[in-house]
Amino acid sequence: APLEEVDLPLFFGWFLLSSVQEKVRCTSMDFLKTLDTLEAFKKHLADFTGKAEKEVDLEQYFKPKGALHCTTKFCNYGKAEGAKEYAENPAVKALYGSAFEVSLTALFVTPRTVGARVSLTDEQLQLWPADAEQSSSLPPGSRAHITLGCAEGVEPVQTGLDLLDILALQQDGQQGEPAEEMELGSLTYYGEGRWLLSLREPIGAPACFSSFYG
Ligand code: A2P
Repeated sequence: APLEEVDLPLFFGWFLLSSVQEKVRCTSMDFLKTLDTLEAFKKHLADFTGKAEKEVDLEQYFKPKGALHCTTKFCNYGKAEGAKEYAENPAVKALYGSAFEVSLTALFVTPRTVGARVSLTDEQLQLWPADAEQSSSLPPGSRAHITLGCAEGVEPVQTGLDLLDILALQQDGQQGEPAEEMELGSLTYYGEGRWLLSLREPIGAPACFSSFYG
């Protein structure tokens, strides 16, 4: 494409510093390793395999998707709706290239994706696009997450949709089924292969607000 058509990035977001990427990946691997040994998980294994007897190695099941980041606005090089307006937002311009700390407050797993929920501060919410939560009535920032891995054939965009889906259940008053107290926090099952681990201690991850061109 001619240069003037690629002036907007693929997406904007917070990019985790490499040292903390390592830490988050290790935490998520440890979680997956423990999750697939739990009786509660084995009981619902058919959600993942389609067959109750089959085993699943979650560490193999999910494929990593590159550098860890929390997408704010997916611009698709300017083709996504609202991309230009986002790039021109004064807060986006002012904070571009700045250092932040993003707070990871939960890990979640579905048969499609594994991700970390990110809880945004008021300052960080200035960088959050108004349309991210789509038609849901969830508060702005609800979709904020880091994709940690996707099942074969699943695109990373699915991770945020999986998180919104779990949060919508919570909003509807579905408490989920308390499954296990783990070292990292409390694990809850929401049916259809949806698991959420609320972290006892949020993980503070240093990150740079920037963009990715690919
Ligand atoms: P996520 O933020 O959940 O990881 P891709 O490699 O598929 O082009 O995606 C690049 C990044 O942009 C990924 O981080 C991905 O998901 C995010 N992304 C892709 N499509 C969308 C979309 N339609 N809405 C929001 N984020 C998207």
